[in-house]
Amino acid sequence: MKRVLLLILVFWALSVPAAGAEKPCLGRDPIRKIVAAMTVEEKAMLLVGASMEGYAGDGAVTGRTLKLVPGSAGTTCPLEAYGIPATVMADGPAGLRIDPHRTDETRTYFCTAFPIGTLLASTWDEAAIERCGAAMGNEVLEYGCDVILGPGMNIHRHPLCGRNFEYYSEDPLLSGKCGAAMVRGIQSQGVGTSVKHFAANNQESLRLQNDARISQRALREIYLRGFGIAIREGRPWTVMSSYNRINGPYTQENRELLTTILRDEWGYEGIVVSDWIGRRNTVAQIHAGNDLLMPGEPVQVEEIVEGVRSGRLSESDVDVCVTRMLEYLLRTPRFRGYEPSESPDLHTHAEVSREVATAGMVLLRNEASTLPLTPGSQLAVFGVNAYDGIAGGTGAGHVNKAYMVDLDEGLRNAGFVLNSRTADLYAKYMAFGDVLLSEQNARRFLGEKWYVPETALTPEFLALRAAESDAAIVSFGRNSGEYNDRPTSDFYLTETERALLESVCAAFHAAGKRVVVVLNIGGVIETASWKELPDAILVSWQGGQEAGNATADVLSGKVSPSGRLPMTFPTDYSDHPSSVNFPLDYRGRRGDWADDAPERKVRNLGFTCYEEDIWIGYRYFSTYAPERVSYPFGYGLSYTDFDWTEASIGRFGREYVVTLRVTNTGEFAGREVVELYVAAPKGDLVKPIRELRAFAKSRELRPGESELLTLRFASDDLASFDERISAFVVDEGGYMAELGRSADDIVVRLPFGARSSVRKVHDVLKPREFLQTFEY
Ligand code: BGC
Repeated sequence: MKRVLLLILVFWALSVPAAGAEKPCLGRDPIRKIVAAMTVEEKAMLLVGASMEGYAGDGAVTGRTLKLVPGSAGTTCPLEAYGIPATVMADGPAGLRIDPHRTDETRTYFCTAFPIGTLLASTWDEAAIERCGAAMGNEVLEYGCDVILGPGMNIHRHPLCGRNFEYYSEDPLLSGKCGAAMVRGIQSQGVGTSVKHFAANNQESLRLQNDARISQRALREIYLRGFGIAIREGRPWTVMSSYNRINGPYTQENRELLTTILRDEWGYEGIVVSDWIGRRNTVAQIHAGNDLLMPGEPVQVEEIVEGVRSGRLSESDVDVCVTRMLEYLLRTPRFRGYEPSESPDLHTHAEVSREVATAGMVLLRNEASTLPLTPGSQLAVFGVNAYDGIAGGTGAGHVNKAYMVDLDEGLRNAGFVLNSRTADLYAKYMAFGDVLLSEQNARRFLGEKWYVPETALTPEFLALRAAESDAAIVSFGRNSGEYNDRPTSDFYLTETERALLESVCAAFHAAGKRVVVVLNIGGVIETASWKELPDAILVSWQGGQEAGNATADVLSGKVSPSGRLPMTFPTDYSDHPSSVNFPLDYRGRRGDWADDAPERKVRNLGFTCYEEDIWIGYRYFSTYAPERVSYPFGYGLSYTDFDWTEASIGRFGREYVVTLRVTNTGEFAGREVVELYVAAPKGDLVKPIRELRAFAKSRELRPGESELLTLRFASDDLASFDERISAFVVDEGGYMAELGRSADDIVVRLPFGARSSVRKVHDVLKPREFLQTFEY
């Protein structure tokens, strides 16, 4: 008995810490014990970032701004007493953004510029995106960061959104699958991702205040759906809440969004990180489930502490966020004590970047098999962009890369001979232009750049070049980025670009030579009015630092193009129904930081009514206006041809499985993409004529080779959202699986039946009646 009493006494003595005893430690002690031991101040420190250089100045939370990795976006606060390290978060999403140079060091810290999100989506190849993610994640790890702030997953609602290049598609399934693949790839390296910007951050104009007024159906079917897929299939460590509001409240303060949907419905277990700087109501943020406030300000710590003391914020809400933060910290390389090499294999990553870039380039036109170009042929290369290419967009998504391979260099590397008179002329013209722009460019910020404007060339000059060359390449570029939506003029070729194209085509066609247009763009431009002029058009997108080599790989036929458009190319931007509710040509202050901006009450700035509802991209064009399409969603040509045979559909439990054999019947090796749309029977709700439900891409098939592709979708994927009962509803009846080469080119139709089902979800994010009334 005495021994038992003694044991109880010893156990009691060990479990009750004496005054001044050691604190529980992360990794050694259970998380709940750490939470129980923390003061409210310590908890608050953990939920507020350690600020950002030049942001909170001397008053940073920890008394200093942590500069663990120069050029990173922010750090979390360490609490040494509990064994909690600071962790580092850096941008994304086209590569890691850190400073390439450090004071007093001669070595460099360059990162690989990978292709932009829109190009990745054009690959329709989840495995390629995963490979790209793994290379990117490795740089995050080896440069000592813990989380990269990407992928960007907002929907291309309108072609002029300045950040579309960072995002994937107008379609939520394609976006979700790409996002999930990127998350899996990056996180395979033991570092985290931040799926952003959650949600409905579809314009840059007055982005800090904009209230996106959206129906519950459009939210559920379009704007949230891709995020849901990425979260369930990718399991990101973090999600970034956006700056904007949805139907009233800011997303960062919205518990319905950050807890009810994200965690209760989708089962998300990671942390929510606020987008940078747009400070909100701290108490509301924590209550909503926005676990980490970045980049962090001292006053936010005080607000949390004061909130708890005054009873406006329950300590249990704080504890939930702190618990999730501790779970996050446990996974990080810093906590695991990983020693970064500071020397990722940039060479191998450049190869990955090049390979993925080729897989996402989209061939729009190829009359009389103009492409591929004959190896070693003489090319006259026009357009300033060909000599000064665009690797990616600007702003947070800019990457400090070691070099950029321009198109002229890529073509030379591929063995083409470039017309020297043309190249010399551009060299002189651009050197002159660069001098004129040097003052502006010295002030550039996060990759912004003033490019030398295009120049027209005389018919005499062009006639001589046509006589000397086998073919002409004309390259046009477009850039955009964070803070500003694209001006409407950006959608069209400028007068000089058009004049150049027309005169090059006239001169070369007169000499019996072909003209190829290369579009080094980050977003959609107008093509309908000029697409018949050149013989071939290749959308090379913004292919990262190896763009020139990757484009040459496709032009030379080393790789057959296999990209497909992840968005519609309309005849005009105004054909998109969202155009009437998009801030066209607003050139406000950069970022519009001020909450009291006068534009706040103005339609499409302070608030935007998503009147077009679910009718985004091909959902609208294929159903109501196919004649307004220049190139449809999913479109893209190859150098080879494929036969589609043995199509079949079967149902296995809750899953439909479609198989199709694709056979390369042409003369080049190539890859085929199969897009599976479903047309629903007529039901209660108006539905698009077809919606993408699955897709697959073959491996590279040699001429004569074939592959049996399998495409799957769940019966739940057929649902539309019925706001009246707050449920995803599948109508009973006859459906059609439509296998196509684009949203407007269906090749095989397979009928199947579905039983009705109703899946209730929470009746949240309700629009107020102001959705259609335009009053604030
Ligand atoms: C951007 C985010 C970015 C963050 C950190 C914000 O301005 O919207 O995409 O991750 O800054 O740099």
